[in-house]
Amino acid sequence: MSVYLDHAATSDPKPEAVLRAVTAAMTEYNANPGRGGHPRAVAAARQVLATRTALAKLIGAPDAMSVVFAFNCTDALNLAIKGSLRVGDHVVATRLEHNSVLRPLCGLAARGRIRLTLVDPRPDGFVDPEDVAAAMNGSTALVVCTHASNVTGAIQPVAAIGQLAKSRGVRFLIDGAQALGGMPVDVGALGCDLYAFPGHKSLLGPQGTGGLYIRPGITLGTLREGGTGSASDSLIQPMERPERYEAGTVNLPGIAGLGAGVEYVAPRLSQIMMRERELTSALMEGLSAIPGIVVYSPAEEAARAGIVAFNLGDLPSAQAADALARKGYAVRGSLHCAPGAHRFLGTLTRGAVRASVGPSTTFEEIEGFMDAVRQLTH
Ligand SMILES: Cc1ncc(COP(=O)(O)O)c(C=O)c1O
Repeated sequence: MSVYLDHAATSDPKPEAVLRAVTAAMTEYNANPGRGGHPRAVAAARQVLATRTALAKLIGAPDAMSVVFAFNCTDALNLAIKGSLRVGDHVVATRLEHNSVLRPLCGLAARGRIRLTLVDPRPDGFVDPEDVAAAMNGSTALVVCTHASNVTGAIQPVAAIGQLAKSRGVRFLIDGAQALGGMPVDVGALGCDLYAFPGHKSLLGPQGTGGLYIRPGITLGTLREGGTGSASDSLIQPMERPERYEAGTVNLPGIAGLGAGVEYVAPRLSQIMMRERELTSALMEGLSAIPGIVVYSPAEEAARAGIVAFNLGDLPSAQAADALARKGYAVRGSLHCAPGAHRFLGTLTRGAVRASVGPSTTFEEIEGFMDAVRQLTH
């Protein structure tokens, strides 16, 4: 078994409670939530509500119905973006965004449906809120910013951007893929209207889960329409949340597992955050001391998520990641689905090695990893 340092892709291991919750959903109350009144269907619906409620509490949402389930963060981002925009709208996003933001936006822009402005980060890797403000115009309908870069881990000034967007009456979407579960998130304090997140990364839930916070008062267009178990005599997709956005049978085992993940993470959040900061600091210090290594993540501990990106001299990052895998370390090389971030770092050709930590990572593993990197530089 290799040492897993790829938590930014998906977390591993999942807590025992998550595995038990998935199994219980498939064995003890395997039924279709919201589609029947018999006891098992009711138990299934109760579990879906319990996970929704736990997520709403975790992000400071005013009520559980502000959280809708999605299949991953990409799915939630697509709903937020495509459900918000009308023909002729202008959108401001940053060059640090993941392709799950860039591709839907660039696709709409390429078809002439929207106009898009991408804001560059400052040389230190953080977006300047003033640059976002300067990019807005009278037709700006949406601002999108990643909470933390999935390449460098740099935590972006989303609260300041949120304030600016709010002062201009512009909708603000945060991509929380690399943040929720690893740091406190309060959607009110961040001033966001929409917050997209995966369930399978720092929330420690199963793959196939994610969600979107939708501020009360906002109604989005839908990506999918179909059965909701409600208002079934109507041929029109209901307006009510969460049904409007959750057509078809939901991922009950995944949602049950996600609920257990949230219950695991919520009481330990500050502990997890502090530990991940210390682990990444150990990584940053160790890697920076190795001759020939270039580190791309921010030096300030509190300014980065549990991610450290680097390169070994001129070695292509995919080769470095393969060599590290042979030494028993699972890290990701190449491009991390965020071409603008790589262009900014000057790593669009060779990519970067990304080591990312999780609650289970130990300092011994970090030491061993650095030994392995040192061996590669000799
Ligand atoms: C910043 C960012 N946004 C979005 C995503 C997409 O998440 P998912 O794989 O859950 O769709 C990722 C995945 O790594 C990410 O890092």
